[in-house]
Amino acid sequence: MENAKNGNIFLIGFMGAGKSTIARLLQKQTGMKLVEMDERIVQEQGMPITEIFERYGEDRFRELESELVKTLGQEGNTVVSCGGGAVIRQENRDAMKQGGTVVYLTAKPETILERVRGSKDRPILNGNMNVEYIAQLMEKRRAVYEAAADISVATDKRSKNEICEEIIGRLKLNEIL
Ligand code: S3P
Repeated sequence: MENAKNGNIFLIGFMGAGKSTIARLLQKQTGMKLVEMDERIVQEQGMPITEIFERYGEDRFRELESELVKTLGQEGNTVVSCGGGAVIRQENRDAMKQGGTVVYLTAKPETILERVRGSKDRPILNGNMNVEYIAQLMEKRRAVYEAAADISVATDKRSKNEICEEIIGRLKLNEIL
């Protein structure tokens, strides 16, 4: 594993993989700072993600995401819950690698659907709330998630505490924590 330069932990994975939940738990257990990328973008832009997509398009959102990943990569000691698409751009994956350790949370499409089905604030899934679409997009993104990941952790049918313990254990084993 690469050295965790700047000591951040970037949590990546598909929408509904559990990034926000696990990031909060990791923050509590490690005392590190916490940044939820989507929340930060919403605060800074003063509008919800769906509105950013509607008014300015997905490309503009990806620009904002890139700027934020790069800024966060240079700061230290932060657990970053990344947006599900934050790994699509190579420049973002590079900034994550430079800035810390990348932890990839995985889940089956069926699990993802169960977790996101009630949500209306993910423009990518609006009108596409079904296993087939999720499976297809996940397959399309698999290579970039895998390219970015230092550690992969499966989340299906596991409690948040179990998942968090596994991550902390593996980061300690690799002398990251
Ligand atoms: C997206 C995931 C979302 C959010 C935006 C786009 C994606 O974040 O950034 O709706 O392209 O996968 P979550 O993974 O936190 O839902």
